[in-house]
Amino acid sequence: VPLDRVEPSGGRLIVVANRLPVTCSKDAAGKWKLQISAGGLVSALMGVNNYSTLWIGWPGIYVKPGRDRDALAAMLKREGYLPVWLESGLLDLYYNGFCNSVLWQLFHYVPLQLDGWQRLGEHQTLQMQWGAYQQANDRFGEVVLHCYQPGDMVWVQDYHLMLLPSILKNAVPRIKVGWFLHTPFPSSEIYRTLPVREEVLRATLRADLIGFHTYDYARHFISSCTRILGLEGTPEGVEDNGSVARVAAFPIGIDPERFAQALETQEVQMNIAKLLNRYAGRKVMLGVDRLDMIKGIPQKLLAFEKFLHEHPEWRDKVLLVQIAVPSRTDVPEYQKLRSMVHEIVGRINGAFGTLTYVPIHHLDRQLSFHELCALYAVTDVALITSLRDGMNLVSYEYVACQADNAGVLVLSEFAGAAQSLGAGSILVNPWNINDVAAAIEDALTMSEEERRERHRQNFMHVATHTAQTWADTFISELNDTHIEADLRLRH
Ligand code: G6P
Repeated sequence: VPLDRVEPSGGRLIVVANRLPVTCSKDAAGKWKLQISAGGLVSALMGVNNYSTLWIGWPGIYVKPGRDRDALAAMLKREGYLPVWLESGLLDLYYNGFCNSVLWQLFHYVPLQLDGWQRLGEHQTLQMQWGAYQQANDRFGEVVLHCYQPGDMVWVQDYHLMLLPSILKNAVPRIKVGWFLHTPFPSSEIYRTLPVREEVLRATLRADLIGFHTYDYARHFISSCTRILGLEGTPEGVEDNGSVARVAAFPIGIDPERFAQALETQEVQMNIAKLLNRYAGRKVMLGVDRLDMIKGIPQKLLAFEKFLHEHPEWRDKVLLVQIAVPSRTDVPEYQKLRSMVHEIVGRINGAFGTLTYVPIHHLDRQLSFHELCALYAVTDVALITSLRDGMNLVSYEYVACQADNAGVLVLSEFAGAAQSLGAGSILVNPWNINDVAAAIEDALTMSEEERRERHRQNFMHVATHTAQTWADTFISELNDTHIEADLRLRH
């Protein structure tokens, strides 16, 4: 009897991610309120609707055990969210430390620091950060195992939780576990500098299915396993002692319908009218990024500065709206970046601005979904100049909102999206300021015919490669892989 009949895959989908898709805060009356969080992972998973889903993650806040915590947990539970509580000392070492100062950096090709980092006289060593990473992964494991029922499928997300597949398999050998990485996986030459490279790989390999955005990232992962662990890489994945972890590429997408519908609402239409009025007579370029060094914001600003310098005829005729959503503000590198960006913006506005024209409109905050849609819809060019980026869904969102205007996408060749939207975009090397300045000129002067043709290609891709198809493909493959693994276990 085929195993899928013995054990129907009718269980729930348990998504485990570091962060819940909502941020919790209190209103003036002291009542808890929930707000959608920023970032590609949230944006993609918001577009997945077909499953009965439980989401486990850190609620972005620590609340002491007691009534207040219970009230928040109950509110989250009603939405299908289960919180993992991480007290501030642990969180700092795990999240600011190992996740965002070690793995995040390394996976985006930024070499390791000397040994952890120094902040206000306090030193976090890499060893301490690693200890906290293990402990935090255990905490997530406890919450998953507490609610797990046979037949459920566990889908672990991202670099924060690379040890979780092994924690779960050790507790329940037949548990169905997939792991997906939302960042790049770097070349094995970079990855192998990680002091705990073996422990991390071995733990992740316990997943039945391991997914990446692009084929290149999957290949880098497989070669790290062969070179560092001496395992055998096959076209299917990695083989370890007769068991196979399947490794493959599953490019993510968005829910384009959500944007199309938002554009129809009165609220967005009103925002659009206001913006068009404000920008009348000028071209507008848009950047929307988390304030993160991998997004290449300073490089983008320098390219715009160069463009204005070389093209006096465009001064007063084009402006850049840069939305920089604050992110990981306790990590020293992110604090330095913020000052650097402010300094460059000030310099450019001081040099090229007039009493009636400000070349860069810079905002340090997250916009509401409706404000963002309006901005996507009215701008002429999107500038996405990431130095490295797993996929970059802002590029997809921009395309989804540009059905009328057919705006131009200037896209870094180091974003995963370059592999899917490359043909319809102007691809740039963000480190080459001249190249980006030239791309700005091309984008601003492109004929309408060419813009429409490029947009058509990009739009076709965004409309057909959605978050839903991404999740469906991953989940059905996880089911198949697990059935095969289970058969092997039985024989
Ligand atoms: C990236 C990561 C996500 C993360 C998001 C926002 O997209 O892949 O896992 O949630 O950034 O970062 P934050 O640290 O604020 O969760």
